Amino acid sequence: MSGRAPTFPEAPSTSRARVAASILDADLGNLGHAVARAEREGADRIHLDVMDGHFVPNLTFGPKTIKALRRRTRLPFDAHLMIANPGRFIEEYLDAGCDSVTIHVEIEEDIEATLRAIHAAGRAAGLCVKPKTPLTALEPYRRLLDIVMVMTVEPGFGGQSFMADQMPKVRAVRESVRRFGGEVWIQVDGGVSAATIEQCAEAGADVFVAGSAVYGKNDVGEAIAELRALVAAHDHP
Ligand code: DX5
Ligand code: ZN
Repeated sequence: MSGRAPTFPEAPSTSRARVAASILDADLGNLGHAVARAEREGADRIHLDVMDGHFVPNLTFGPKTIKALRRRTRLPFDAHLMIANPGRFIEEYLDAGCDSVTIHVEIEEDIEATLRAIHAAGRAAGLCVKPKTPLTALEPYRRLLDIVMVMTVEPGFGGQSFMADQMPKVRAVRESVRRFGGEVWIQVDGGVSAATIEQCAEAGADVFVAGSAVYGKNDVGEAIAELRALVAAHDHP
């Protein structure tokens, strides 16, 4: 797809699999602790679910919170903007220190301009599809994508049940990346757990967003290690 080098400031790893801890299900009263804990316990990235109450029926946090959290961890920040107007606010999210910004293809704004703004800041740009959105919606932006994110729940809330019927989409994205080449992360988001992560990996995902399967556990480190072990056999070089 894009052919650009990956822009995540990550330590070298022998595996391509990445576990992105979603703080949506962490203690929202102590997010600084939640991100530091994810780093200490072995997560690869912090997944930041931004919701505006319009694009999804829920509200979370915005760029100021992200900026404040930026000082609390060295892990890459992977922002997932579930907002109707990301283009209007994109500079604020970039300035807040997001290493990647993924927006939704279902929005009515100019998508290409926002993807280009993300690249202009030297960050990774992603597009996300909701469960009912076909992959053909991504086609016009194919060359601009560092991340393709397939929602495996309806966006808006953590702790929902995994939608296995989205796996053919993941498979199709993997097939397209194989065919066209390029550096593209294939990310799954929603209901990813020890019970569901292997089918995501087998379908071709290499970034696994996990909220309740990480922060809902007493031993966060053990939960992350278990997820990582389950996908170890399915690398997609
Ligand atoms: C849902 C969010 C997800 C969510 C995942 O709209 O995009 O990132 O936090 O939470 P779990 O892993 O609990 O489904
Ligand atoms: Zn998310």
